[in-house]
Formats: sequence, C-alpha cells, structure tokens
Amino acid sequence: MAHRACDWSGIDRLEGGRMCDTDYELLCAQLRELSEAEPHWLPVLANASALIMEALPNLNWAGFYLTDVGAEAPSLVLGPFQGKVACVRIPYGRGVCGTAAAQNKPQLVPNVHEFPGHIACDSASNSEVVIPLHASGSVIGVLDLDSPLLSRFSDKDFAGLQAVVSTVETCASFVGLPFGR
Ligand code: SME
Repeated sequence: MAHRACDWSGIDRLEGGRMCDTDYELLCAQLRELSEAEPHWLPVLANASALIMEALPNLNWAGFYLTDVGAEAPSLVLGPFQGKVACVRIPYGRGVCGTAAAQNKPQLVPNVHEFPGHIACDSASNSEVVIPLHASGSVIGVLDLDSPLLSRFSDKDFAGLQAVVSTVETCASFVGLPFGR
C-alpha cells in the first residue's frame, strides 16, 4: 500500500529535494477495490479523501463539496473531507470551488492569493486544485485539495487527480444525493 519511497514530508532527499511523485494508478486501483465492497457515494467519497490525504505529501485539506440545486441559487455544501474545519456553503461562481463548479472546469491554482475571490478556509493554504465531479452528465460537486506550499501541484498531479475523480464517477453510486435532488 506504500505510495512513496520518501519521508513523511514528501521530499525525496536522494532526488535532490524534489517533491515525490504520487502513484495515481495505485490510488485509482485502491479506490476501485474499496468501491467494489461498497459503492454508495458517502463511503466512497470519505475513503477517497482519506486515500488522497495519505498519498499526496504536503496537503492541509482534501475533500469534497456537493452541489445543492435546491437552494435559491446553486451552491456547494461541505461533504466528506480530511483536514481542518472548513467553510460549510460556497455559492456557485465564488472562490476556486465555486468557479470550478459554475464553469464545469478543473482549476489548478499555483498561488491562491492571486486568485480573485479565493476563499481562505485555512490561512495556511497557498496552492489549490479543484476538479468538478459529475453524475449523469451534471456537476454534482467538486474535489478540493489545498497545500501550504506554493505551486505544490504539478501538471502530473493535475492530470492524476482528474483520473481519480473519473474513477470516483465510474465506481460510486450517486443515488440519494442529499441536497435538492
Ligand atoms: N479555498 C476554497 C474554499 C474551500 S477550502 O479551501 C476547504 C475556495 O476558494 O473555493
């Protein structure tokens, strides 16, 4: 189950101090295996948050926001996550998460302080990735990752995390989503 051959900080000292690569194929395989045992979206998203937090060094938050279509205007409500207490509701179009959901477009943000309207749930966050999550062709939420490091996420991470979200979309059963459906 080991994801990295380097120390807890995620820095591979034998490789000149570069960030360790995450094995996204392994991460997706673990997700597929876990969801075979129980495909309900709640345990799948909960375990996906835990696997991501374990597999990617230097994160301070990893988790999901889920779309509430029943609200006056669409918004995101806090879902399963790992990390500190976070903002509970984010309107579509606000912050990195709301932008990803409203535009249905993954966001790679090397410096959150340069992102207009970034919502600072944790002042320690410096870079962020947000990937929209879909069911039956609609955005039903987002995966959100925060890091205290600037430019923490490489293009490889960005692609790997989109593969993780695709795996969740394929393997989880999204019947009975809690908000406005
Ligand atoms: N930074 C996010 C808010 C969610 S927290 O990071 C967990 C944003 O700007 O949408």
